Amino acid sequence: AMISLRQLLDHAAEHQYGVPAFNVNNLEQIQAIMQAAQKTDSPVILQASAGARKYAGEPFLRKMVEAAAEMYPDIPIVLHQDHGASAAVCMQAMRSGFTSVMMDGSLQEDAKTPASYDYNVGVTRRVVEMAHAVGVSVEGELGCLGSLESGRAGEEDGSGAEGQLTHEQMLTDPEQAADFVAQTGVDALAIAIGTSHGAYKFSRKPTGDILAIDRIKQIHARIPNTHLVMHGSSSVPQEWLAVIREHGGQIKETYGVPVEEIQEGIRHGVRKVNIDTDIRLAMTGAMRRAMGRDTAEFDPRKFLKDAMTAARELCVDRFEAFGCAGRA
Ligand code: G3H
Ligand code: 13P
Ligand code: NA
Ligand code: ZN
Repeated sequence: AMISLRQLLDHAAEHQYGVPAFNVNNLEQIQAIMQAAQKTDSPVILQASAGARKYAGEPFLRKMVEAAAEMYPDIPIVLHQDHGASAAVCMQAMRSGFTSVMMDGSLQEDAKTPASYDYNVGVTRRVVEMAHAVGVSVEGELGCLGSLESGRAGEEDGSGAEGQLTHEQMLTDPEQAADFVAQTGVDALAIAIGTSHGAYKFSRKPTGDILAIDRIKQIHARIPNTHLVMHGSSSVPQEWLAVIREHGGQIKETYGVPVEEIQEGIRHGVRKVNIDTDIRLAMTGAMRRAMGRDTAEFDPRKFLKDAMTAARELCVDRFEAFGCAGRA
């Protein structure tokens, strides 16, 4: 059944677990996540980015998620809109049946330029008023995702802030977070702690100076009843990087957010953990391997089946690691 983000995260807080929020764009990703949820008895958050809506179209995404709810009647499903750049985008998602929306007012409507605090408060509060009137949850974001190593948003494909960010912009301030939550009434708050979107997050295994898990603890201490969200939380498995490289892919040396660090976050109020890149890496690695192995094969289902299996196994690992297994 479809439920709201708030319902799910309240349960997660009560029982001290975190929920992976997987980005979805197509049938294979949705199937893989649902199979993993079924196997581990986990509730799921399926989220669609602006890029996903452009790729599949909102009706396809919505209908595929409806199909997932029909095929897996015992699994609670949140359909969440990831990184809404404006109130209009959020309204559109609500109208088409999303049970949760993210109003990302940390950036202006161009989704590139860091926004003022007042803009963020104003636009997020407006979305909360509309969403709550129809039972939809809202995630807000305070602070800009970005690398504390380079001062850049990180995403190689151009999503996220453009240009240099200051250290201050990339670390959410606990006091301001308390004010933001009080003024907007958001159901969940995405915070900035040095992670960024995409595969290239850290040039080395991250330590406290570039991945500020301590900042989560400070924010949680200040607003213990707010559900915190970690973006850019792919772990970038070295095993999948190796498979991709072995089969002709070119991926430079890079490191993600270690699962142990996410677990530490979950002990301090993190309830939603956004993951897109890891599924991309697993599916790409599996497809490259399958295509290299079965060179006479031309039925794409064979390759996609391997990709689905790889994605499913990754999702099973995250459901288990975050304490989500057995909570459906
Ligand atoms: O927001 C970041 C997610 O990884 C989505 O990326 O816009 O390429 O679908 P995307
Ligand atoms: P990754 O790129 O680390 O998977 O992050 C995804 C994300 O934050 C989507 O909003
Ligand atoms: Na989101
Ligand atoms: Zn994100």
